[in-house]
Amino acid sequence: MEAVKTSDKLFVPSLPTLWPGMLMAPPRPGALPPFSSPNARYFYFARNAVWLTMKMLRLDGGEVLMPSYHHGVEVEAVVDAGATPRFYRVGSRWDVDVADVAKRITPKTRALYLIHYAGFPGPVDAMRKLADEHGIPLIEDCALSLLSSDGATPLGTTGDVGIFCLYKTLPVPNGGALVVNGKRSYSLPEPPAPPVASTFSHTISALLQNLELRGGAVGRGLRGLVRSVGHGTVKAASIERVATGTQHFDRRHVDLGMSPLTKRIALAQDLEGIVEARRRNYFLLLGRLRDVSPPLFNQLPAGVSPLFYPMVVQDKETLLAKLREKGIDAIDFWKRFHPACDPTEFPEVAQLRRTILEIPCHQDLSPEVMGQVAEVVREALKSERRPSKRAS
Ligand SMILES: Cc1ncc(COP(=O)(O)O)c(C=O)c1O
Repeated sequence: MEAVKTSDKLFVPSLPTLWPGMLMAPPRPGALPPFSSPNARYFYFARNAVWLTMKMLRLDGGEVLMPSYHHGVEVEAVVDAGATPRFYRVGSRWDVDVADVAKRITPKTRALYLIHYAGFPGPVDAMRKLADEHGIPLIEDCALSLLSSDGATPLGTTGDVGIFCLYKTLPVPNGGALVVNGKRSYSLPEPPAPPVASTFSHTISALLQNLELRGGAVGRGLRGLVRSVGHGTVKAASIERVATGTQHFDRRHVDLGMSPLTKRIALAQDLEGIVEARRRNYFLLLGRLRDVSPPLFNQLPAGVSPLFYPMVVQDKETLLAKLREKGIDAIDFWKRFHPACDPTEFPEVAQLRRTILEIPCHQDLSPEVMGQVAEVVREALKSERRPSKRAS
């Protein structure tokens, strides 16, 4: 798999692209959750699974103890379902403060909510113990941690429920999952499939990205052409495209299910190969960037499948602009607190929100491309530190 460099511009998309062969490939046995679980329900988004969890566990009307380091959309889903979020401390290395969680549990607390950040396991055993001591459920949010394990234990299998997002890790047009662990079973409705046109539109866009990834200038030109025709067609036919990766919860989409095409593509993936490629790419960035930017994590524990390489920077806006100009689709990670969470109470998280960028390290990126990415990032970081002409 080779991304192509044209002139001095790379094409490094933030998400993996769809290779045409994946549409016809036969299914492989899925050895990791949610695919390995007999009790999985699939949705359009992970946020739908968060919402349904609140209803299923009858948490509406109660309080849910959530991390102060959050995306925001999962908190919106909790609030929309009728529960009240309360927040606990997370440290400057994405470390959940279990002692702080314990201190904040009150008779009103009806559940604990743990997020595994970008594939890095949170303290799920300690949280499980705490939840059991208080007789309340543990919700394990693995939206950013599909395919990741804590040693030999797959993430999402320790909580009463595990919640997953498929489209952040796999080249699928949509998809989230709710896995119910333990003996208790719930009768959950089978959500309806999403509009075919929406699935089609996301699929085409992922295929075109693949074309650009492999085809350089020709692919880029073709993608531009198809996109402009496509936009016109979508508009003319008033096709309902339900965007993925959006920042806010929308009640109108809460019942939307996953497309059958997502399942087909997901089951055809070489999951172990994906984890291996992501780990290789992460190590490569770690080795080439640690001297110019102190890493958030100095190592990659066994089983971890990194969603991206978290890079600590001083000036996010400038760095982002520089990387994007060179064709690297880095992402500003979790800039905002949900309004229910007071930033002044969690200064370390406020600092994380000001300083973390996502550098892609997904399975489509070859070691050669990762080397080029590292070079671009090094240059951008160095020029960030150089005093500007005006200042000197
Ligand atoms: C921690 C967390 N939970 C849930 C979600 C919701 O995922 P989805 O976009 O699939 O609804 C996100 C989205 O980024 C997230 O970061």
